[in-house]
Amino acid sequence: MGMMHIFIYIFLCVCTLLSYINPKKQKRKTNEKAKLPPGSMGWPSMGETIQLYSQDPNDFFAKKQRRYGDIFKTHILGCPCVMLASPEAARFVLVTRAHLFKPTYPKSKEKMIGPSALFFHQGEYHTRVRKLVQNSLSPEAIRKLIPDIEYVAISALESWASEQVIHTFHEMKKFSFEVGILCVFGHLDGKYREELKENYCIIDKGYNSFPTSLPGTAYHKAILARKRLGQILSEIISERKEKRLLEKDLLGHLMNFKDEKGNTLTEAQIADNIIGVLFAAQDTTASVLTWILKYLHDDQKLFEAVKGEQKAMYESNDGGKKPLTWAQTRNMPVTYKVILESLRMASIISFTFREAVVDVEYEGYLIPKGWKVMPLFRNIHHNPEFFPDPKHFDPSRFEVAPKPNTFMPFGNGVHACPGNELAKLEMLILVHHLVTKFRWEVVGSQTGIEYGPFPVPLKGLPAKFWKESSTQ
Ligand code: HEM
Repeated sequence: MGMMHIFIYIFLCVCTLLSYINPKKQKRKTNEKAKLPPGSMGWPSMGETIQLYSQDPNDFFAKKQRRYGDIFKTHILGCPCVMLASPEAARFVLVTRAHLFKPTYPKSKEKMIGPSALFFHQGEYHTRVRKLVQNSLSPEAIRKLIPDIEYVAISALESWASEQVIHTFHEMKKFSFEVGILCVFGHLDGKYREELKENYCIIDKGYNSFPTSLPGTAYHKAILARKRLGQILSEIISERKEKRLLEKDLLGHLMNFKDEKGNTLTEAQIADNIIGVLFAAQDTTASVLTWILKYLHDDQKLFEAVKGEQKAMYESNDGGKKPLTWAQTRNMPVTYKVILESLRMASIISFTFREAVVDVEYEGYLIPKGWKVMPLFRNIHHNPEFFPDPKHFDPSRFEVAPKPNTFMPFGNGVHACPGNELAKLEMLILVHHLVTKFRWEVVGSQTGIEYGPFPVPLKGLPAKFWKESSTQ
């Protein structure tokens, strides 16, 4: 979901000034002893807010953290907010007291994805839908997808090798979207796939634009595309009903759901959740994959180590004639550690948001009802106390398991990412086929990070790919 970070303009719209306009409301009597965390509550300048959202948010937080410690308060465009940079505090909010903190998103984003998508909810509805999503993304379910994911990966790589220069991040997005489609629909008719892709692209363009119903604007176009997505899903559902297909993919799980009273999910609930999952799956996985390619490219020794591991598997599969097995994907220690270290280094979900549903006390501090809380994953992942020399890319650090609650690339607790095994599986598969048969060269010498809003290498890592055999 990570989606959270996509919703980065969250406060621009939703965080009404109300909570700020009437600060007295925040002063409640619950616990006289508890005081607000330290920090400055002055209006942050527009520049500061923009900086938080357009640059490495770590710089913003790290400065505050040095000054105030692991828990501090601030305002982001009028929203009072408590930031949490310790593993214990993140665990408190996301795991042990998760019921006291609800997910919080701008209404405009809810409308775009669909208000019934699971990550907007907590409680019974969330638990129910989450179980269905988890089942369709369980190891038992995704292991069956390996040959299909391999096919998608090989086709993608072949197509990159036939181009001059590709925008790696864009291409990775196409790949992760195809894998998402596999999980949700199994083998979907090409016509539907194209229609879904086309409308998703329009949503993508309007997603972070200013929410307005003015015709012609990117946001308005995105809302129209969202309506069309609903119609396409409705057609797919009707077709399945007609054919009485009982599939084990996510759509099947959602369509077959019945609670104790015999209630089923509505078509809108099904559609919102499918669109939500596809959204949560795409940019997240694609940005991590783009980083992996950069890290492997920049470190020849690391690349050779990964290649050695994958080549051995490739040979034992008769030069790639046999498909990868689930057991093989569970036994790629070198590649796996590269993935973990990439997740840590890039920390593409830098933080997430919750909102206190009641006054909450933590470590003697008061978090007033209605305030936002932000567990800062990236700060924790870059804290030298937990990850020595944190700016250094070093997969071997994962030879020892990280301390509990210090490594949360997929979040933690009731809303933790149900797609994490799938994400790792598709990354392993893509890397397997990439390093065994292809080579790549990054084009241009720019180093730097772009935020869109996930961090990706500058310009989406332009690169040239070729088939290794053709150069030997
Ligand atoms: C490397 C790739 C990915 C990363 C880093 C990632 C990260 C995350 C994080 C941090 C959360 C929790 C957000 C929060 O607590 O506020 C989350 C939630 C979620 N993710 Fe992922 N994710 C990834 C890939 C995927 C994939 C492939 C899928 C589905 C196929 C997926 C589906 C979801 C869903 C549905 C949620 C919401 C769960 C809930 O609210 O109960 N994610 N993800």
